[in-house]
Amino acid sequence: MSGAATNMRQPAKVVPVITLDGPGGSGKGTVSRVVAQRLEWQFLDSGALYRLVGVAAQDQGIAMDDVAALTVLAERLDTDFRTLADGREQILLSGADVTTVVRSEASGDVASRIAVIPAVRRALLQRQRDFRQQPGLVADGRDMGTVVFPDAALKIYLTASAEERAQRRYKQLKEKGISVNLSRLLGEIVARDERDSHRETAPMTPAPDARVIDTTGFSIEEVVTRVLSLWESKFV
Ligand code: DC
Repeated sequence: MSGAATNMRQPAKVVPVITLDGPGGSGKGTVSRVVAQRLEWQFLDSGALYRLVGVAAQDQGIAMDDVAALTVLAERLDTDFRTLADGREQILLSGADVTTVVRSEASGDVASRIAVIPAVRRALLQRQRDFRQQPGLVADGRDMGTVVFPDAALKIYLTASAEERAQRRYKQLKEKGISVNLSRLLGEIVARDERDSHRETAPMTPAPDARVIDTTGFSIEEVVTRVLSLWESKFV
């Protein structure tokens, strides 16, 4: 290893973090999962935490404007993320398998509404930071590089046109046998982007030191290769 490369490394005890932020459908969920697998690092899906608060609230009949109760839920969330033997993810809430409901479009929409509440965001902050464990963490979200891990070693912001993101989502849902209307999906994506990027606390925006990658027209593998080569050129 050259001296220059050694100097660019963070101190040994600092767990390196790669953040991938961006809107839904930009590919960041799949890309960050694959990058974490290739590097054999920990993985944080922060959006799933906001979705889980929404699912728990609906289970318990808590209203979306009951800030105090939602904050307590976020603080006490009893959850576990697992990977099954066949590679599928499993998300548990208080021991129950809630994977399908967590991944639904409706849960994404509820999560985006809950995510505007500053007290809920604060309640989830330490839980997200606890994922930072050796040998490294790949963190997927909206504010990973700006708020949760401002000292991340590499910050990526993935984007793609709303039309392309709607097409991708439409295809995914169709493959799952769920029929949706493409123009309605596009409308929902645009509305969610608007809410996520214009809220007062931790809005979705690239960190000033983030590398912005437009994934329009790129395959997942091409984006993974780009992220890994950015990481290697900086730190390996
Ligand atoms: O990435 P996702 O679709 O699972 O996220 C669902 C919603 O959760 C998203 O619309 C906004 C919110 N979210 C957030 O505010 N901050 C994050 N770090 C991750 C998600």
